[in-house]
Amino acid sequence: AEHMGKDLERVLVTEEEIHARLAELAQEIWDHYAGEEFLLVGVLKGAVLVMADLMRALPGSAPMDWMAVSSYGSGTKSSGVVRILKDLDTDITGRHVVIVEDIIDSGLTLSWIRANLESRGPKSVEICTLLRKPEAAKVQIDCRWVGFDIPNEFVVGYGLDFDEQYRNLRVVGTLAPHVYS
Ligand code: PRP
Ligand code: MN
Ligand code: MG
Repeated sequence: AEHMGKDLERVLVTEEEIHARLAELAQEIWDHYAGEEFLLVGVLKGAVLVMADLMRALPGSAPMDWMAVSSYGSGTKSSGVVRILKDLDTDITGRHVVIVEDIIDSGLTLSWIRANLESRGPKSVEICTLLRKPEAAKVQIDCRWVGFDIPNEFVVGYGLDFDEQYRNLRVVGTLAPHVYS
């Protein structure tokens, strides 16, 4: 995507790094459940690309479901307000759940989602996120599987958007200043 490349200032994670890490995480997740079924729960929309590549790297079959929540609107700062826009199709009572996310920024979204899912009586809830920003954390989240810790900068690509754009970039990077102005 040549036309999007010049909107990036710097690539933080390459396509190859993403796929190699997701393959490792898929194997770790598979081994963790040791043959017991687990449900992958993706958080729309950012987690779409992580889910697609993570699930294809699993050595065997696993079902998936999706939640849509809203916490950011179209801006770049977290409001801390979480709304369910689309709930799970399935009942998770007594099931192992792995929440799949693109990024933990402040942690407010996942902290809320995890508490919400835990209230439904699942057998367990774990989190797998491709990216995490340790310096941006407003709440501590126990996240079992993390792809990469990154600096506290606004990043786009591989599912992450700026005003709904750039989700389809194959890399994760920072935006050039001219894009904001
Ligand atoms: C982004 C991102 C995470 C969340 C992380 O989603 O995909 O879900 O924010 O931020 P937090 O840790 O500060 O809560 P967003 O609300 O922008 O929706 P989107 O996935 O549709 O882009
Ligand atoms: Mn999201
Ligand atoms: Mg977003």
